[in-house]
Amino acid sequence: MSCNKGHDKLDALAFVSTRGWRTSALHGPSNGQLARFGGRDRLQRGRPTRFPRVPPPPTAPLLYRTVATATREYAPVPPPRYRVSPLDFRIHSSRTVGVGSFGTVYEAEKVVEPESSLPCVAKTVPADRFSGVNLNDALYYFAIERYANDQVRVCIESGEVAQLRRYTARYLGHGEHAGREWLFFQRHPGWTLEEHFRQAAAAADGDGEDFIGRLARALGLVVPPEDADRIKLTRRVFLRVAYDLLQALVGFSRLGLVHRDMKPANVLIDEAAHAVRVLDLGSAAFLSTPRYGAVIGYNARWGPADEDYVPPERFIDAKFPHQFDVFSVAMSLLRIIIPGIRDVGHFRRFSHDFRSTYDTDLGFYASRAFAGQAQHVPEGFVDGLVVLKGEDGLLFELMRLMLLWRPHSRLSPERALVELEKIKSRVPA
Ligand SMILES: Nc1ncnc2c1ncn2[C@@H]1O[C@H](COP(=O)(O)OP(=O)(O)OP(=O)(O)O)[C@@H](O)[C@H]1O
Ligand SMILES: [Mg+2]
Repeated sequence: MSCNKGHDKLDALAFVSTRGWRTSALHGPSNGQLARFGGRDRLQRGRPTRFPRVPPPPTAPLLYRTVATATREYAPVPPPRYRVSPLDFRIHSSRTVGVGSFGTVYEAEKVVEPESSLPCVAKTVPADRFSGVNLNDALYYFAIERYANDQVRVCIESGEVAQLRRYTARYLGHGEHAGREWLFFQRHPGWTLEEHFRQAAAAADGDGEDFIGRLARALGLVVPPEDADRIKLTRRVFLRVAYDLLQALVGFSRLGLVHRDMKPANVLIDEAAHAVRVLDLGSAAFLSTPRYGAVIGYNARWGPADEDYVPPERFIDAKFPHQFDVFSVAMSLLRIIIPGIRDVGHFRRFSHDFRSTYDTDLGFYASRAFAGQAQHVPEGFVDGLVVLKGEDGLLFELMRLMLLWRPHSRLSPERALVELEKIKSRVPA
C-alpha cells in the first residue's frame, strides 16, 4: 500500500537562471527562479545542468522566497546581507564533527570580529569522496541546503518566522574557499538525539534512567531525585522535545519547506540554550504555490532520505505535504519512551514491523502488545505506552494521529501543535 498520489507533479522542476543555465549545481538554487517543465519528466539523476531550457520572462527580477502565507508566492526581496568570507573562519580539517551521505562537517571558529573566536562548524562536499554523477548529486543537495538555510535566515531576520531562530542551528553564511563551497553555522554545544540514544543503548545498566535524566538536564528541566517517579519525568521530556520539534515544523511549513530528513541524528539538544535545534536542510523541499505546483529540491527519483523514518507515502503528497515530517517526528519521539528501540538496529526492525504488520496503526499495535499477541515487541514497549497513555490517553491519541498511514488523515504540524499545547498546559513545567 502506497500513497504516492500527485508526487509526479512535484518533481518536474528545475532552476533557471535569468542569465541562462548555470554550469555548476552550486549556483543553481540561490540565484534562480523556478520554472516548470512538463508532465512526468524527472530531473536527470545528478545532472541538474541538463534540464531543458525554459526562457525566463524578459523583465523578471531575481526572485527570492519571502514569507509563506495562505497565498504563498515568490516575491522579490533583497539578497541576503550576510554573505561571509571563508577567510573569516579557521577550519580544523582534522576535527570532523560528522560525516553524512554527502556532506562532511568540521569544527571551525570565527577569527574576525564580530564574534571573533565563536565556535562554529563548517560543512562542505569533500570532492575526493565522490566522482561522476555522485559528485553532481552531492553538489546538488549541497546547493539545496545552502538555499534552504538562506531562506530560513531571511525569514528569521525579517521576523516573519522568528521562532525558527530557536529551533534551528544558527546559520552564519556561506563562501568558497580552496575550491570548495562551505556553509558555516555556530557550533551549539551538546549531543544530537541520536547520540543520546546511542549512549543510552550502550549504558551498562540499560534501564534508561540516566538517559532521561541527562536529556532532561540538557533541556534545562528540573530533575527530581533518582528515586522519584521516572514516568513523570519521561513524560515531561517527551512533551518538551515534541513541542520544540513541532514548533520547528510549523515554522518550516510557513516557509513552504518540508525537511524530509527529520530524524534523531538531525536534532541537536543544545545544552547551553536548552534548545532543540533541527539540523541538516540538505534534503529539504520547497513548495511554492498553494497548489504546490512547483518545487525546489525535490526529486522523486532520488527517493526518501531515510527509510526508517520516511512516512508510508514515501513521496510528498501534493495536498498534504507537511504531514510528511510529522510522521518522521513521531517515529523519532517513540525512541524517547521505548528503551528497546533506542538501539539503531532494534529501531530498524521495529520500524519495519510497525509498517508491514500493523500499517503504522499505533492503537492496533498497542492492543496486540497489551494482549501479548504481538511478535518482536521491543523491550519496554508497554512501559512506553504507559508514559503516553497518562491519565487521559490524550498523548497516546496525538501520537496515533501523527503516525496514521494516509497523509490526509494524519495531523498537520499546526494541528498537532495545538493538541500538544492542550496536553502540555495540564502538566507542570
Ligand atoms: N551547528 C551545529 N552545532 C553543533 N554540531 C553540529 C552542528 N551542525 C552539525 N553538527 C554535528 O554534525 C553532524 C552532521 O551534521 P549534518 O547532519 O548537517 O550533516 P551530515 O548528516 O553529516 O551530512 P548529510 O547532510 O550528508 O546527511 C550532526 O549530527 C551534529 O552532530
Ligand atoms: Mg545529518
